[in-house]
Amino acid sequence: MTARTDGPPGPTVLLSPPDVGPLEESYLIEALRSGWVAPAGPDLQAFEREVATRVGTAGAVAVSSGTAALHLALLGVGVGPGDVVVVPTLTFIATANAVRYTGARPVFVDCDPQTGNVDVDLVADLIPRLRARGERVGAVVPVDMFGSCADYTALVPLCADAGVPLVEDAAEALGATHAGAAAGSFGQVGALSFNGNKIMTTSGGGMLLSDDTELLTRARHLATQAREPLPHYEHRELGYNYRLSNLLAALGRAQLVRLDGMIARRRQLRDRYAKLFAPVPGVRLLGAEDSGANCWLTVAIVDEDRSGWRAADLAAHLARRGIETRPVWKPMHLQPVHVGAESLMTGAAERLFARGITLPSGSALREPQIARVFAAIEEFLTVRTGGSAA
Ligand SMILES: Cc1ncc(COP(=O)(O)O)c(C=O)c1O
Repeated sequence: MTARTDGPPGPTVLLSPPDVGPLEESYLIEALRSGWVAPAGPDLQAFEREVATRVGTAGAVAVSSGTAALHLALLGVGVGPGDVVVVPTLTFIATANAVRYTGARPVFVDCDPQTGNVDVDLVADLIPRLRARGERVGAVVPVDMFGSCADYTALVPLCADAGVPLVEDAAEALGATHAGAAAGSFGQVGALSFNGNKIMTTSGGGMLLSDDTELLTRARHLATQAREPLPHYEHRELGYNYRLSNLLAALGRAQLVRLDGMIARRRQLRDRYAKLFAPVPGVRLLGAEDSGANCWLTVAIVDEDRSGWRAADLAAHLARRGIETRPVWKPMHLQPVHVGAESLMTGAAERLFARGITLPSGSALREPQIARVFAAIEEFLTVRTGGSAA
């Protein structure tokens, strides 16, 4: 099977295409031939065990998306209508939407300008302020931005002392570490995504991770329509159809075997970008100093005052050559769907949004495509900087 790394139509170089091949094909065919095509099955259980072992939690529940995992994680720590939940403004929309699904309200906080991860001082400042006016703080949801863990050395004791559950949005960060522990293991519960653009994929899927086996049992129950264990269909509470299928779990198991190799390829690519941009004034890579990152996406931050050009100029140049890039996440406090939400801002996330460009980072990219990306960036820099990076 040939993995499709160039999306139709035309010779586009994609940001982070799925990296699948013969191993995934063999796992999928085996699962299909075993007859376990209906939702549950041995690959699903094995996938949960294997990811939990990798991350170091007591257990896991595989679900249909990272968003579903976040929703169940929030329900699992007791978030509900009327609560407020502290969410970084720099994240993908799912983090904030999952809070709203529970009936709670997100309160957005800004990020550390260096890493893009949540600004811990703002979280520390915000929790007592919210409580002082009678709010119940249901959870804090740090996000491991672009595959770099948030500062859990500070966040874990901060949340424990405040008595607020920590729900880790590790959707982008499987395989990353912080202070020797794995992304997904830091909160009462963590959420992963296996969406098609992630470090590993089940084509679509997600997972909850926790040491709290009661929380996991309840999440599994809610993920299967809250069906009671009776011969007829009996439902005492509102459930969801969130379970991952056995076939997709088989795909995930093959990807997990290859995870370290895929991370190594992304890291090599990041190192090459770092070398390319090192001599260029006003350009840095977001979170470049984090040796525990899984290097999911490499993001360059461009300070126009020093570089003389904008991230958007490079994006337009690459787009003309069929190379996909993206801005970093548009902050949640600027999203029309969350208009009116309370926020505590320093301006850091807005600056990263204005200055960031997410570069092709996928482990499926092959040398000719990578060479094309680097040649196009060098061409741009030669014109814009008079050859300082050439
Ligand atoms: C930070 C973050 N949270 C949550 C999600 C949601 O995951 P999914 O797309 O699997 O629902 C994603 C990615 O898509 C993400 O990047």
